[in-house]
Amino acid sequence: MPRKLTKSNAHFQRAVKRLPLGVASNFRYWGDARTIYVKHGRGARIVDLDDNVYVDYRMGYGPAILGYADPRVDQAAREGMEVGGVFALSTERELAVAERIAKMVPAAELVRFSNSGTEAVMAGLRLARAYTGRDDYVILEGSYHGLFDAAMWFTPMDKWSQVGDPEVRPYSEGVPVSTRSFAHFVQANDANQLEDVFKRHADRLACLLIEPIMGNCLGIAAEPAYLRVARELCDRYGVVLLIDEVKTGFRVARGGVQELYGIQADLCTFAKALANGYPISVLAGRERIMRKIGNGVAHGGTYTAHSVSLAAAERTLQILDETDALERVSDYGARLRNGMRGILTARGIAHSFVGHPSMSGLYFAHEPPRNYRAWKGSDYSFYDAMARVLHDQGVLCEPDSREPWFVSAAHDASCLADTLRAFESAVDATLQATGGTTRKVNA
Ligand SMILES: Cc1ncc(COP(=O)(O)O)c(C=O)c1O
Repeated sequence: MPRKLTKSNAHFQRAVKRLPLGVASNFRYWGDARTIYVKHGRGARIVDLDDNVYVDYRMGYGPAILGYADPRVDQAAREGMEVGGVFALSTERELAVAERIAKMVPAAELVRFSNSGTEAVMAGLRLARAYTGRDDYVILEGSYHGLFDAAMWFTPMDKWSQVGDPEVRPYSEGVPVSTRSFAHFVQANDANQLEDVFKRHADRLACLLIEPIMGNCLGIAAEPAYLRVARELCDRYGVVLLIDEVKTGFRVARGGVQELYGIQADLCTFAKALANGYPISVLAGRERIMRKIGNGVAHGGTYTAHSVSLAAAERTLQILDETDALERVSDYGARLRNGMRGILTARGIAHSFVGHPSMSGLYFAHEPPRNYRAWKGSDYSFYDAMARVLHDQGVLCEPDSREPWFVSAAHDASCLADTLRAFESAVDATLQATGGTTRKVNA
């Protein structure tokens, strides 16, 4: 049964007159008749204007690691409010949060705050450029690092004919063509290609900007050997290894992907899980590089280290560091995968899971993809059709198969039961609608 979206649809009609696409971020527009507006979120569930209740696997694209409206974090935020906001001066709590981050992430010798992931990565790229005196950077096909010009060149795989290299295009109109020449694209997990780019352009490369688990591309994971080569090449050629942990940070492990892989960045960026959804981000890294800030490199901002977000970050990090929250997140993710696997296998549907259980990609092909080009080989149209049914059944995953499923510490047994019930019926409904045409395991 499709949901009723009467109130959301009516609100959309009003909102679109004042807000482009009727929303505050393009990604929130799901079509004139399918854009939903949230009434509130608690734990792992959200309720829309029509009182439809969803088990959520978007979790704001990752921030709500402890669940929506976590009372411990919200209480800390209230205490932060008592401090008074922003003063164009610093407060003591900045150091407390920086100390916690440095404890959890050894490469974070020095720390600076910003407000969004975009801001942090932008600052990281600028710092890497200043430190090396070079302008270019290497970036992976399929990666997303925010909405600023340098990060807005991408390879639209939907348009790729699977012959030759995909075209590099701007993600938006308004991105100056002159910014294109700085970016060198490589495919994930191709160490030879990476080495080749380093060899050819070393004297121009400021950094390798990499998200070792691609949180906007199924969770495609770097192989450990690939990341070791990347680290080694950066050292050899004096290129800054800038690891973007905006999604993976304080999620896939206390120390993020760096802990998971046993690798250390020169610079790294965090946001999302850092404050359970309060707006704050971090650029951190090696002292020798970070000391350039204030010594030639500009960094700052009116809202930087706002007392509410900072207090929320302090409490969130304490919980993540000192409790078993992240173990519970991973454990739930593993149980979710097991349940889905059982349902898909029983129907002979080829599938695999990608990335980390806390941010899991569901991929309709036998082997998990090693790079973004492989996505073309999966049955993503089945995923897209199934996602719409899941929404109707009360499970909110991203409509686009490239976004992983985000788990929080608030996902519990009842969420799992509701999800698997909905998943089974969505798979069957999709099989029926597509005439059972998805790839079969033994086909
Ligand atoms: C890896 C990565 N970097 C940067 C960003 C940009 O963060 P924000 O949306 O907070 O600007 C995102 C957002 O999803 C991200 O996933």
